[in-house]
Amino acid sequence: MLHLKLPTDPRWASIAEEREAAILSDHAWCEQKAASTAISLIVKYYDRPEIVQEMTALAAEELSHFERVVSYIRKRGHSLEPERKDPYVNKLQGFIQKGGKPEGILVDRLLMAALIEARSCERFRLLSETLEDADLCTFYRELMASEAGHYTLFITLARNILPREQVDARWQEWLDFEAEILEDFSSGTGIHV
Ligand SMILES: [Fe+2]
Ligand SMILES: [Fe+2]
Repeated sequence: MLHLKLPTDPRWASIAEEREAAILSDHAWCEQKAASTAISLIVKYYDRPEIVQEMTALAAEELSHFERVVSYIRKRGHSLEPERKDPYVNKLQGFIQKGGKPEGILVDRLLMAALIEARSCERFRLLSETLEDADLCTFYRELMASEAGHYTLFITLARNILPREQVDARWQEWLDFEAEILEDFSSGTGIHV
């Protein structure tokens, strides 16, 4: 359903398992960034009621995910570690079109968000299927379902801005680009890298 072009190397999950505390902290910051992105979209596109309405709900939900991950970190006996740079997200940002019509830029922003949700969802699924700890598996399975819904939301919003064929063609370009950059990241030190 996610249509990602490159499946995550299963070795990423085993490295991630060994670095539980680091992965959970990185995950918490991903949720915070998802909430911040939703808020930025509200500020920038205040004159688009659908974006304002959907992003307000999303920001609240992502912040509640942040809270859940932070309490889970405590439950597992770890502490929240400082935020680290996410080179995966930085590379994706470079693919957003520069100049051109504002609708094209907005669609790119929405597609980038859809892609991050899709990849997070894919990785949560991998973790929920491969980790030995049943409690952690349940935790990731629940979050996976929410992120899958967010992926669909961003694609739907993009298709409401520009014609569907145009959005879908651009989505294929995003998928190709993401597959290309993902090959450089498999360290297992973060949700996306
Ligand atoms: Fe989330
Ligand atoms: Fe999300």
